[in-house]
Amino acid sequence: MSELADKIKALKEERQAVILVHNYQLGEVQDIGDFVGDSLGLAQQAAATDARVIVFCGVHFMAETAAILSPDKIVLLPDEHAGCPMADMINADDLRKMKKQYPGAAVVCYVNSTAGVKAESDICCTSANAVKVVESLEAGEIIFVPDQYLGAYVQSQTGRKMHLWPGYCPTHARIRPENILELKEWHPRAKVVVHPECRPEVIALADAVLSTGGMIGYAARPDVRELIVGTEMGIIYRLKKENPGKKFYPVSEQAVCPNMKLITLEKVLWSLEEMAPVVTVPEDVRVKAKRAVDRMLEVKS
Ligand code: 13P
Ligand code: SF4
Repeated sequence: MSELADKIKALKEERQAVILVHNYQLGEVQDIGDFVGDSLGLAQQAAATDARVIVFCGVHFMAETAAILSPDKIVLLPDEHAGCPMADMINADDLRKMKKQYPGAAVVCYVNSTAGVKAESDICCTSANAVKVVESLEAGEIIFVPDQYLGAYVQSQTGRKMHLWPGYCPTHARIRPENILELKEWHPRAKVVVHPECRPEVIALADAVLSTGGMIGYAARPDVRELIVGTEMGIIYRLKKENPGKKFYPVSEQAVCPNMKLITLEKVLWSLEEMAPVVTVPEDVRVKAKRAVDRMLEVKS
């Protein structure tokens, strides 16, 4: 372990902190995590931990979700500029207008959204449970925000009438079908997994459409030896680490989320030293947003 990692470990214990890390983080950051996972797993961990401090190595909406679930804990995001551009493609006012346009529709927000948007939603979802969440609803129509591609995928799986906000992830938009076709020619025995934030023409080429946590599980299957991976590059580190001897081919080396890469070991240490930057949510917004997140956590996956 590096000197920096040793210092983080010692200070983490002193502060009674837990380090939660998303699958897209830099390898060295993944290596110091108490838990590394997808948005659903991280939210579950944030809800369950008895640590006093949560150091969130991910992007702002993830730390905010932890703050929504655990108001009695201090939530640190080691770089306050680590945002998610898709989460900022809709705000609470936009959603209120959309709700007026489709009265009676149930409102589902992807977890990649602000606390204000969650507070205006009936239920939240992640890429791991979006289909199950929508299936759990009885309403005849569903408003789905902000990811149009995840929304379209869920619509294709459930056959439900859905109104989609035109948001998207700029990183997953870089993943192109022609890149998959080319890789399939070179590696004909490889399976293809893609994230549901990808465009429909990319999703159409996949053997499985999975959250990042779902991809980790898929790669561990004994029948999978080679995998073409359509998501952010950071996941390749964990796939290789946990599956020595297997081959992983990223669909696009351009698929890098610059916000995820803002978190470094130096910033994690600094954050624990200074106990900053702290992510908080105004109490009235938090209480409403928590209803949508709690309702999601009750859906059986
Ligand atoms: P997962 O929940 O699948 O980890 O995805 C989070 C995300 O931001 C994908 O871009
Ligand atoms: Fe947001 Fe896309 Fe980055 Fe995920 S990969 S955090 S959706 S910008």
